[in-house]
Amino acid sequence: MDSFAIDGGHRLSGEIKISGSKNAALPIIAASLLTVEKCEISNVPDLMDIKTSFDLLNHLGKKCCFGFGTFSAQERGSIRHHAPYDLVRRMRASVLVAGALLARFKKARFSLPGGCSIGVRPIDIHLEAFKKLGAEITYERGDVALSAKKLRPAKIKFRFPSVGATENLMMAATLVAGTTVLENCAMEPEIIDLAGALRSMGARIEGDGTARIKIKGVSKLSGLKHRVIPDRIETGTFMIMCAAAGGRLRLVGAEPGNSAVLIKALRKSGVSVSAAKDAVLVESSGLRPAPVNVKTEPHPGFPTDLQAVWMAYMARCRGKCEIEENIFENRFIHAAELMRMGASIYLSNNKAFIHGADKLTGAPVMASDIRAGAGLITAALAAKGQSFIRRVYHIDRGYERIEEKLKAVGAKIERIRS
Ligand code: UD1
Repeated sequence: MDSFAIDGGHRLSGEIKISGSKNAALPIIAASLLTVEKCEISNVPDLMDIKTSFDLLNHLGKKCCFGFGTFSAQERGSIRHHAPYDLVRRMRASVLVAGALLARFKKARFSLPGGCSIGVRPIDIHLEAFKKLGAEITYERGDVALSAKKLRPAKIKFRFPSVGATENLMMAATLVAGTTVLENCAMEPEIIDLAGALRSMGARIEGDGTARIKIKGVSKLSGLKHRVIPDRIETGTFMIMCAAAGGRLRLVGAEPGNSAVLIKALRKSGVSVSAAKDAVLVESSGLRPAPVNVKTEPHPGFPTDLQAVWMAYMARCRGKCEIEENIFENRFIHAAELMRMGASIYLSNNKAFIHGADKLTGAPVMASDIRAGAGLITAALAAKGQSFIRRVYHIDRGYERIEEKLKAVGAKIERIRS
């Protein structure tokens, strides 16, 4: 298991090119199962989760290629309908193949993903909605099997705007004759990107980016050529890292419109952020920030995927602040690691109360998930002395060449291979 050794206290200065969005790429890759024709998806980041998608699609019977940011999938014979435990356990987003398989073959079987370090993460919203489209659901040996003689259009109101369920159902409904209406949908930019990709395959979808999405089923979808949107979570992570460590960072290829809440919070904390059409410039003194409370919410609220990184930044705030986590029930594991670096954080239910510390000091710490890991890097960059971050395989699932990108702008970070 690799680790990162980071010497804190160095300013970040220069330019970072933002990668394509992992969370947009994953469902679009799954959408290639909706067609027999070739799909070519560009601006795909080179990450462990993309490799898992590659393995999954190959397992299901697609012939995939991935290189230089382009992922292509082509049919090479019959398609299997089973996403096995070994692949689902590596990446929960594997369940996103269910909607496409159900739509095209009227059957899908996949291992139940189980919980993970940030929460129980059930998939009941997906399954309830598949049922409304006419799928029968059975359970066997840890797997869920979906099957239907014929799918029917439905009006489905999600009990919570789940990102994955919105994506899965959008894909499932594309080939269902009639009009399906999804309500209380997630409105994340990744949903809009998936809808755009599906439309270019011939799907008839309206309302993506709002809470109500309407899908008119078509009989067949064609191939795809699509460029994935920039990663707003990677963009946000680097913005906060620069705010915490100090310096002047230009993030090119970003889409600042998708980071509006974060930009507002950063400005409130005392950092200068200027946004152009496809770039963001962050300038920070690196001094202790003003305290800024945040609560995570579905988009367009503050993203849960930046909560750990924000906590690391606020650990040195000039005063007290609160962070409220409203998406996942157990997403504060990083708080204990930050406390090992000198942060003062008190947890109560879904709230973290932070008493800003004068300084953080380097320490050996452990990443527990992708974004918790990014939070620890943020703290290490702003800390005095050296930190060792273990279990960086979590970070590698979601950030493309993060240490190379940081090194190029002045961070003292080394990967220690084991
Ligand atoms: C996606 C993102 C993830 C992000 C999350 C919330 C991808 C690949 N991952 O995950 O990075 O943190 O959105 O923005 O895009 N829930 C249920 N039942 C369900 C589905 C979800 O109770 O059937 C709950 C979850 O446990 C969680 C909340 O709803 O507490 C949000 O989950 P969801 O929006 O589905 O997140 P993901 O799609 O898994």
